[in-house]
Amino acid sequence: MVGFLGHDSTELPPLLNLLAISGSLRAASTNSALVAALAANAPADCRVTVYDGLGRLPIFNPDDEGERTPREAAGLIDAVTRADGVIVSCPEYAHGVPGGMKNALDWLVSRDAAVGKPAMLVHASPLYARAALAEIMRTMSFALHEETALEIALLGKKPVEIEAILAKAENRLAMQNAVQAFADFIRTR
Ligand SMILES: Cc1cc2nc3c(=O)[nH]c(=O)nc-3n(C[C@H](O)[C@H](O)[C@H](O)COP(=O)(O)O)c2cc1C
Repeated sequence: MVGFLGHDSTELPPLLNLLAISGSLRAASTNSALVAALAANAPADCRVTVYDGLGRLPIFNPDDEGERTPREAAGLIDAVTRADGVIVSCPEYAHGVPGGMKNALDWLVSRDAAVGKPAMLVHASPLYARAALAEIMRTMSFALHEETALEIALLGKKPVEIEAILAKAENRLAMQNAVQAFADFIRTR
């Protein structure tokens, strides 16, 4: 059926490009496994790309902004700018936001990339630092989608167990629904 805008109403809406960031550099990271699974289980109208440059970012220095912006930082800023939304899955260290994640956010602070950018937090474990991370991102003017809470308990699991948990039909559906809810949030803003 063709709608009044000339589109076939059975067509999918335009593809949304979402950037997923894990706040952990660990090879066996539960958070990295979760963002990879989100990418693999994304709804048909979303493409989730996993950002893999966190560990290569230099430590943020305001003197290195503008023309002096390092290549890796410019790559992050560009990826966030181009994304329709950002998904963050981050552990906590001593109840705080890990330095690597905060460093990545710091590179975005004085740019436009974060301003009004839809963002969603997902979790591989319960966090005290969730409130701090949400506060940082709201302060940076991310448009945080807080209604959908996706938490898949992976803390302390071995890689083989993580794989099995993330492959469960109910968890795949939960991941798909969470990304779909985020996509709906982005589209209705
Ligand atoms: C330095 C360090 C500090 C940690 N602090 C906390 C903490 O405050 N609360 C907590 O629940 N887990 C803490 N953990 C455990 C991590 O949450 C756990 O290792 C988690 O799996 C890390 O995420 P990842 O699997 O994505 O690397 C800590 C781990 C490390 C290495």
